Amino acid sequence: MKRIGMLTSGGDCQALNAAMRGVVKGLSENVDELEIYGFFNGYHGLIYGNYRLLTGRDFSGILTMGGTILGTSRQPFKLMKEPDENGLDKVEAMKHNYYKLNLDGLVILGGNGTQKTANLLREEGLNVIHLPKTIDNDIWGTDVTFGFQSAIDIATEAIDRIHTTAASHHRVFIVEVMGHKVGWLTLNAGMASGADIILIPEIPYDIDKIIKGIEKRNKIGKGFTIIAAAEGAISKKDAKLSKKEFKEKMKNYKYPSVSYEIADAIQKKTGSEVRVVVPGHAQRGGDPDPYDRVLCTRLGAAAAMAILDNEWGIMIGMVNRGTKRIPLEESAGKLKAVDPEGTIIKEAKCVGISFGD
Ligand code: F6P
Repeated sequence: MKRIGMLTSGGDCQALNAAMRGVVKGLSENVDELEIYGFFNGYHGLIYGNYRLLTGRDFSGILTMGGTILGTSRQPFKLMKEPDENGLDKVEAMKHNYYKLNLDGLVILGGNGTQKTANLLREEGLNVIHLPKTIDNDIWGTDVTFGFQSAIDIATEAIDRIHTTAASHHRVFIVEVMGHKVGWLTLNAGMASGADIILIPEIPYDIDKIIKGIEKRNKIGKGFTIIAAAEGAISKKDAKLSKKEFKEKMKNYKYPSVSYEIADAIQKKTGSEVRVVVPGHAQRGGDPDPYDRVLCTRLGAAAAMAILDNEWGIMIGMVNRGTKRIPLEESAGKLKAVDPEGTIIKEAKCVGISFGD
């Protein structure tokens, strides 16, 4: 008999359901008796004992379905050790519900913050396996996270569609791509869609260099420019500020996001017509693409195999195209960012893409 708890935490993304299905199929094919308890809305369900015994029917037909059948919520790691508004000790509450159900272990799907809490639960003696979910692809220890490729597809399509209208109107378009503090999604969607300028947090930009790039295109008669800007893009000037100084700047910030600040500067300095497009949460929405479906079936199956081996305290990552068990203590709390000196940046620059640096 195996008794497993499962939860999805943090921002949703494509293929969460596919990953859970992979775990459950991998286990049900290989153990005689199995109980899967689904905790609802992330760690919230584990803290407050909001769960249900799931059946095979819950996992049927969900390979291709976006979102998460368990629901999700953000429960910041830094607040986990603080009591809730009624004085409840959240960590003790999670342990209590785990032991009450007599679980063999928990499978936890989420991003960096989720992983830190999973590691905390490991330190508290619970059996946990983490599956790396996020469109940001910023989890250390895995080459790729699930949701990332599906989000690339969506962001790419958004930029593709902007291309035609930008060309018709001879405009500068800035498409703002998600990715939190890293530029993986913007870099990949930007390259896939032929963006002329790509701005990512790892390579702070100089507005004059961006303008030079636009003028260079105008000179050769292109007449329009596509900029893929990460939501976390930052100017060289701002990158030099201390955390405190940057916070101070943001207090009086008049733009909805960095793309609007860049647009304003371009418009003022060049007189070009500039438009900003923000696909936003659409990048996390809808069905997983085939790549993510396969990835999640593999990660889920690999998690099932680890459970059968009774190996816990790990993340199942993808390294050199193979699944790998990575100790949580190695991965938790580390960010995987784009290397500004990496070959992909050199290759992008080689084909004329500007990073505004
Ligand atoms: O981590 C995924 C992500 O979509 C980031 O790219 C983005 O910065 C953030 O979540 C948005 O968070 P929320 O869904 O809370 O608005």
